[in-house]
Amino acid sequence: MSDELREDEVARHWNANAEEWAREVRAGHDIAREFMNNPAFVAFIGEVSGRQVLDAGCGEGYNTRLLARRGAAMTGVDISERMIELAREEERRSPLGIRYEHTSYTSLGLFADESFDAVVSFMALMDGPGFDHAVVELFRVLRPGGTFAFSITHPCFITRGGHWIRDAQGVKTGLHVSHYFTPAPWIDRWRFTDAPTDAPEFNVPRFDRTLSFYVNTLLDAGFVLSRIEEPRPPEAYCREHPSQSGWREHAALYLYFRVTKPDD
Ligand SMILES: C[S@@+](CC[C@H](N)C(=O)[O-])C[C@H]1O[C@@H](n2cnc3c(N)ncnc32)[C@H](O)[C@@H]1O
Repeated sequence: MSDELREDEVARHWNANAEEWAREVRAGHDIAREFMNNPAFVAFIGEVSGRQVLDAGCGEGYNTRLLARRGAAMTGVDISERMIELAREEERRSPLGIRYEHTSYTSLGLFADESFDAVVSFMALMDGPGFDHAVVELFRVLRPGGTFAFSITHPCFITRGGHWIRDAQGVKTGLHVSHYFTPAPWIDRWRFTDAPTDAPEFNVPRFDRTLSFYVNTLLDAGFVLSRIEEPRPPEAYCREHPSQSGWREHAALYLYFRVTKPDD
């Protein structure tokens, strides 16, 4: 895979994923989202009621709607036109006052400087090139004192060529990590944990980066780091969904950042 997986190719993959993605997310097949990631990340984001919030990489809008129902004035952007169409269809069906725009989070010229109180991004910033450009744009559109919170797959554990290590009985005993210092875009192929067995796999372009790249890019743009979190799946969740217990016992699946734009 070349270094040059471009945004138009990312959009092409997500346009192809969009129908099935929306169907399955709306049917609750993404159990990690439902029972682990969303509860933890929404608590991490904090209060959004009454705020102007941008959702960067909003997909078909599931989590944009979730924050709108919590009282935020939401705007969602995504690079996939099909995802944005699906989000708008849902907005027409059940209006929540959400504005959706088809654009990249690296190029937010549609929005004036300092137009949002907060920016959030759910599991989207590791899925596109140009994290540095995205961070500069998100800093620009955020008001001074505003926060930017995002979730990504954990860059130290989710790497190209990574896989579970198992004992003779097939029990997970560890996680193999590879190519951490030599990231190159790749296409991840996977299904949601509770997807029907005949569901097609998603093709997800992935842009691995080191942890230091994430942190230093945020600091270089002018953000102040407020908090990070590596949510650990609760015991009860792992009992109910044993396939997920490796993410409790051996490695972190997600990493959350909350950073603040300093007050002038
Ligand atoms: C894993 S999905 C997450 C979608 C949504 N946030 C959610 O939680 O359901 C990643 C999304 O990032 C979007 N994406 C990838 N690169 C992008 C970019 N440069 N600008 C905006 N969206 C992008 C994809 O189109 C896709 O909808």
